[in-house]
Amino acid sequence: MSFAEYKERISEGDTVILFLGHNSMQTLTVTPGKVHQTKYGALPHSDMIGKKFGTKMFSLNKKGWVYLLHPTPELWTVNLPHRTQILYSTDISMVILQLALKPGSVVVESGTGSGSMSHCLIRTIAPSGHLHTFEFHSERAETARKEFEEHKISHLVTVRCRDVCKEGFELHQVVDAVFLDLPAPWDAVKHSKEAIKTEGGRICSFSPCIEQVQRTCESLRACGFRDIKVMECLSRTFEVRTVPLQVPFLGPENPHPPGQTSRDFSSRKRKLQEESVSCDVPSSTLQDGHVNMKSVESLPVENTPSDSKSPTDNAEHKSEISNRIVTEKYALSPSKHITDTDPDSGLVRNVRAVMSQKTNKANILTGRPLKEMTGHTGYLTFATLYAHVTSNNGRADEGK
Ligand SMILES: C[S@@+](CC[C@H](N)C(=O)[O-])C[C@H]1O[C@@H](n2cnc3c(N)ncnc32)[C@H](O)[C@@H]1O
Repeated sequence: MSFAEYKERISEGDTVILFLGHNSMQTLTVTPGKVHQTKYGALPHSDMIGKKFGTKMFSLNKKGWVYLLHPTPELWTVNLPHRTQILYSTDISMVILQLALKPGSVVVESGTGSGSMSHCLIRTIAPSGHLHTFEFHSERAETARKEFEEHKISHLVTVRCRDVCKEGFELHQVVDAVFLDLPAPWDAVKHSKEAIKTEGGRICSFSPCIEQVQRTCESLRACGFRDIKVMECLSRTFEVRTVPLQVPFLGPENPHPPGQTSRDFSSRKRKLQEESVSCDVPSSTLQDGHVNMKSVESLPVENTPSDSKSPTDNAEHKSEISNRIVTEKYALSPSKHITDTDPDSGLVRNVRAVMSQKTNKANILTGRPLKEMTGHTGYLTFATLYAHVTSNNGRADEGK
């Protein structure tokens, strides 16, 4: 099993992702003799050997089951042991796209951290590219090196333990792109420039604070990088829900359809208007025969007949009138474009339901954002180093 390619069956030493649910996954390295405990019961590692990735495996007591998944960088990102803050797939995917990475690309990364970004970079540049990753925390660098070996991707990556801000990368014009996730990325910009190929390349720096972004941009500009662009990636989840909505008035396209004369239409419209006036619903709620539902609903309670009616009665009364007006409107001039639209569309079905139930509310199947969602992670600053900036040891027209 390798994180850079897919294989069909599980064997000893493989990393397997146990899928217990969308928000509940675990990882293990298949070791014969070991037994993995889950809330559903025990899973002997040796029973996994020979099974296809994707298999549903029942626990020994048959109380539950898990899926045995092939690891991917995306699954690793949400399951890896955290040694630092990490980058998640939303930002990672934008970095890979904007750095134009592909199989064969040569990339510099610093710091390595927990290796979340590294796994995605390696999968993208495989099988012929290379990742040079730098981490000044020796233990973290060593753990990352071991993980890359376990995941059978160590031939695609070189891990070095170094302070890149002080010592640089010691790579000269050999990389296509640089990715920085450092507290002071501006100090690594000049070293990044040195590492990028003479034909040019791209850089990206991830920083949580805008002040870091400002300093990085200044450094990028001073070093001759161009097309500086800052992005923030926010992932928004929408739930599919059925919600009650007020039906907007959609017509009429033809105010007096076949079978009705304009006189029929006008006299019924006048009747509705008179009714609305007698009920203290201002005629402004009727515009060209359209019912302005907002203005009906926003009528102050004092505007309604002051006789014996309580505010609740008045509100109900107004609602009843508006319902009647809407119902009459549909009956008066069935909107042509409703009947012409796809008869199976949810909206058309709902409008029909509204008309038959004489209510101005409809249940609409819709998507709505969750009340709580993950927010700001960081800013991604991208820039290009163009080939024509190359010269005296590389870069001729610096600062132009
Ligand atoms: C936020 S973590 C990187 C996380 C990584 N991008 C990931 O997705 O797992 C930042 C790492 O940079 C390392 N670091 C900070 N300054 C450094 C420097 N000057 N040289 C090398 N590594 C550095 C830290 O030790 C830390 O592990």
